[in-house]
Amino acid sequence: AKLDTTYRLGYHIMAPANWINDPNGLIHYKGEYHVFYQHHPYDENWGPMHWGHVKSKDLVHWEHLPIAIAPTEEYERDGCFSGSAVDDNGVLTLIYTGNLFIDKEKDILDQSQCIATSTDGIHFEKHPENPVIPTHPEDGSGHFRDPKVWKHEDEWYMVLGTRKGDIGKAILYKSADLKEWQYLGVLGESDGTEGYMWECPDFFELDGEHVLLFSPQGMKPEGDRYQNLFQTGYMTGSFDYETNTFDRGAFKELDYGHDFYAVQTLLDDKGRRIAIGWMDMWESEMPTKEHGWAGALTLPRVLTRMEDGRIKMEPVEELTALRSKRFDLDLSTIEDTEIVTNVTEELLEVEVEFSLRDVTAEAFGIKLRRSEDGKQETVIRFSTKTQQLSLDRTKSGVGVDGVRTVEVEGEDDVLSLRLFLDRSSVEVFANGGTTVMTSRIYPDPTSLGLSFYAEGGRVDIKSCRVWSLSDVWNEQ
Ligand code: FRU
Repeated sequence: AKLDTTYRLGYHIMAPANWINDPNGLIHYKGEYHVFYQHHPYDENWGPMHWGHVKSKDLVHWEHLPIAIAPTEEYERDGCFSGSAVDDNGVLTLIYTGNLFIDKEKDILDQSQCIATSTDGIHFEKHPENPVIPTHPEDGSGHFRDPKVWKHEDEWYMVLGTRKGDIGKAILYKSADLKEWQYLGVLGESDGTEGYMWECPDFFELDGEHVLLFSPQGMKPEGDRYQNLFQTGYMTGSFDYETNTFDRGAFKELDYGHDFYAVQTLLDDKGRRIAIGWMDMWESEMPTKEHGWAGALTLPRVLTRMEDGRIKMEPVEELTALRSKRFDLDLSTIEDTEIVTNVTEELLEVEVEFSLRDVTAEAFGIKLRRSEDGKQETVIRFSTKTQQLSLDRTKSGVGVDGVRTVEVEGEDDVLSLRLFLDRSSVEVFANGGTTVMTSRIYPDPTSLGLSFYAEGGRVDIKSCRVWSLSDVWNEQ
């Protein structure tokens, strides 16, 4: 299909056109942020995977670079699957999975690990001895993919996702030179309820603890939890480099929206652990396929550990550079009504604090991309009865549906919401990123209203700031 720009995003990473899924090879290299991504450059549907490539100096303005790697060799005939990047003494090295379908229908694969290097950060050469890990260990199977590599003291470590029967696992290797790898064993595995396959693992230290971040397939929904077909989440615990044992805690989800998967992180020169995810899911409706493209990545988010052991995600501070026009809204109290503002922007940031002290409303919230007749809207709602925050996209436009809900505790009698609206996405950061919801929406281009509402009583607004955001792809 010809590229139709209606839902193209203004400040999120996308491919120039066609299909994209996972972020790959996130790295801060020679002072620039590089992001690669799973990409099918010839079609709006998934196919033989290539690595697309963008870079940025500030995590806000991105530049498209040529495709970094394409499936050109027999060992990667059916795609260069997800992986990571390291700076090996100035050489930018990609570590990725060579995919072979043995029987695609029956999901029988033969996956191996490969490397490709670059000295200019743009053009890559595959290693002549690929695959550097030709086959999986006994603990795994041909589902053996998504290597994440990092350096600890003088050695390279790799965590990979695999499955054995219906038990998803993360397994560990180490190497002195990125070429010869020694198998160390299982880092973590499903207790039987935590998924049959663990995709895209990442393993890092965060504020004194270790975090195993991964994307399990096949967890069963449980109340409001695990509502996606597959979900990114994490376990924290302590790790011992002597014995390679990880004393893991329980699995926790990282984001409670509809479209969030295959998250990876990088550590930058400021010591920030920055996460970026695929802002879709394998089951997501992707109405933009008819517009010649599908898929995008989330905003970059800084991860930090909270006192209760959970991880919070906050948008990187650089994003304030997107702020363009500021709107002064005179909102102090809303009582049993909806206040439609004069803001009609497609690219928007809203930062609002609702007081929970004297609240009498049963529920209150924000409506985005609202049509004048109110038939179309995306609703962010907080119920004071159940303490639940929800993102309702039953009236959000083409294809999408459903309400996501999560329990949220007000902090210091305040519920704060910071949200980023782009042409086909919304990312809600509640209470400083302690709860995050990310979803795609496809409203009619004429549905541009923004309103604030309260039901069954009143709520005070302590502060409310709204900005239009700039379109960084179109200003280039
Ligand atoms: C996750 C994933 C990875 C794989 C890639 C293929 O979304 O399934 O496990 O490497 O996508 O595109």
